[in-house]
Amino acid sequence: MSQVTEYSEKVMDHFMNPRNVGEIEDADGVGTVGNAVCGDIMRMYLDIDENGVITDAKFKTFGCGAAVATSSMATELVRGKTVQEALQVTNKAVAEALDGLPKVKIHCSLLAEQAIHAALWDYAQKNGIVIEGLKPPVNDIEETEEYYNM
Ligand code: FES
Repeated sequence: MSQVTEYSEKVMDHFMNPRNVGEIEDADGVGTVGNAVCGDIMRMYLDIDENGVITDAKFKTFGCGAAVATSSMATELVRGKTVQEALQVTNKAVAEALDGLPKVKIHCSLLAEQAIHAALWDYAQKNGIVIEGLKPPVNDIEETEEYYNM
């Protein structure tokens, strides 16, 4: 992806009109993650049916505009996907779906990815299942070069 320095129209749209804000009562999976550097927090709620398909996704965030936009897009992307497919909704996929993010905001999309993974982890724990490729959630996110080299 080419270097992005400004917010795309899609980022602005999802920031101004975030999709799926709120919480799901008795959600099948809930995950909360935070970034120790900026202090922002994101919580993701997932409803998952007996076939392992995500039927609903909602979020709340105490975060920046990009955190709002990325979590909004992340909820849109995981809805209707299987648990396994949802693992492919990476920070890169979220940023690409938003037509890119400024470099300094890439970590916000990482928070969205981590929040999805944390909610999936919670779902797996509650149901005693193992989701292949899913790692335990991290609450403090390190910012490394890797995240900036999209
Ligand atoms: Fe912290 Fe965006 S600045 S999530």
